Amino acid sequence: MTFQLRRNGPGQSTCAYRLPMFFYMVLSAAVLSCSSTAGAASLSEQEQRGEYLARAGNCKSCHTNGDNSPFAGGLEFETPFGTIYSTNITSDPETGIGQWSLEDFTHAMRHGEAPDGTNLYPVFPYTAFAKISDEDIAAIYAYVKTIAPVRYSPPENELGFPYSQRWAMGLWNWMYHTDSAFEPQPGQSAEWNRGAYLVEGLGHCSMCHTPRNFMGANDSDLAMTGGTYMTRVEGKLSAWSAPNLTSADSGLAMWTVDDVTDYLKLGVSHRAGVFGPMNEVVVNSTSHLSREDVRAMAVYLKSLPANSTDSEAPATDDVLRAGSIQYDIHCGSCHLPTGEGSPEQGPPLIGSPVVLDADPASLINITLYGAQTPHTSPSDEWAARTWIRMDPYDTILDDEQVASLLSFIRSTWGHDAGAVTPEQVAAQR
Ligand code: HEC
Ligand code: HEC
Ligand code: HEC
Repeated sequence: MTFQLRRNGPGQSTCAYRLPMFFYMVLSAAVLSCSSTAGAASLSEQEQRGEYLARAGNCKSCHTNGDNSPFAGGLEFETPFGTIYSTNITSDPETGIGQWSLEDFTHAMRHGEAPDGTNLYPVFPYTAFAKISDEDIAAIYAYVKTIAPVRYSPPENELGFPYSQRWAMGLWNWMYHTDSAFEPQPGQSAEWNRGAYLVEGLGHCSMCHTPRNFMGANDSDLAMTGGTYMTRVEGKLSAWSAPNLTSADSGLAMWTVDDVTDYLKLGVSHRAGVFGPMNEVVVNSTSHLSREDVRAMAVYLKSLPANSTDSEAPATDDVLRAGSIQYDIHCGSCHLPTGEGSPEQGPPLIGSPVVLDADPASLINITLYGAQTPHTSPSDEWAARTWIRMDPYDTILDDEQVASLLSFIRSTWGHDAGAVTPEQVAAQR
């Protein structure tokens, strides 16, 4: 069984995306006014650093429910074990964490335990946050303290037995959780170590990009070889594959450090643009980091040795022939018959981690629903790109046609990623 984390509510978005412009402006004003009462103009150096680090950790995306104030929690996450709501981390003394000391906060970030000893669920990525240094946790704490109190209690979690038993997480932690901070590797450059610290710690990329075992813990032998994430597409809850980020052929083999840096900093590179759950990661988190930090992340990612899960057998020759015709009719105009793409029309599909992932979920999603581009532009470069927007094919192609077409692009141009079945396509509709 694969553990799937699913996140309900606002599409791929925090509050700002879903709301009409008018509300968005009111909301920004509200945000501005609450942070100004907390002295946004005069954040100390430590608080400012904490704000930057909170961006790197994307705390706001998970702790904001579209209809509510930032950081007040209440966003719904569905896991195979039940529904969990994020908590209020504003400084309200009763419903938030206003009474928490730095020690309490550090303990929660590193060990996943609230001050009263309650075990927290690892939907809160403390398994990654444990790696953050004490100094950085203190800065995040200082920043979180400046967030104006909001009185709000999220709904109760709805978990079945035995998962409702929070104490059982103590056992889980004992089996799966390493609570020691990141240790720089002396043989590696300062840039590599900075990147490893950000990717493995605050960035919690493995939360989506590493497969999970039956207990919902990251499978460390397959770190960063691709995982599954549940969220809404066009109102319907469905699975997304977060592809392989190692140097495997089905991963980042064909991406340069600059490609990875541009993608995370700008939302677009020569190789790909954001179109799914990465919208939120880039818009709310990585695009706000310094180019040096993002580049360090890219340097670290590009150093990950090739590793991957096995892919399925290829489709039959008949299916591939049918798929090749569909490709030329529907996709070749932008991605070119050679799959090499062009700066004007669309990115290359040769060597695309989304095309080649062992799990074709995101590949099927973009084909059925088109590219779900972010509602807030991550950068001027993203806004200025000349690629033609990719439209949905859900009403144009049936399951069998999509399956043969995708099986074709997974086995041509030197690819070896295995067949996509009509059943897999049907499951994503
Ligand atoms: C992937 C989503 C996600 C991200 C990212 C995230 N959190 Fe959370 N967090 C949660 C959820 C869900 C819970 C509730 C867990 C539970 O109830 O067991 C939680 C709980 C917490 C708690 C415990 C609060 C309490 O009242 O018990 C703290 C503190 C916290 N988060 C701080 C942060 C900070 C600081 C960041 C950014 C550095 C952050 N979180 C990023 C999802 C997230
Ligand atoms: C009108 C031009 C156009 C057509 C036609 C088109 N695409 Fe795309 N495609 C794009 C653009 C542009 C993107 C980049 C998404 C973005 O940033 O908006 C993209 C992205 C993709 C990606 C993601 C690659 C990655 O690594 O992120 C895949 C996979 C893909 N297209 C497959 C297809 C398939 C399959 C078809 C035919 C059914 C198709 N495309 C037809 C323009 C097109
Ligand atoms: C919430 C789940 C989630 C998190 C967290 C996440 N990713 Fe992703 N990632 C995805 C999914 C799903 C895709 C498929 C494409 C998309 O969403 O645009 C993806 C795609 C990618 C791609 C390939 C892009 C392509 O289109 O070919 C890269 C590179 C990437 N992610 C890097 C990262 C890095 C680095 C981090 C940590 C800072 C990260 N991701 C965190 C879910 C996630």
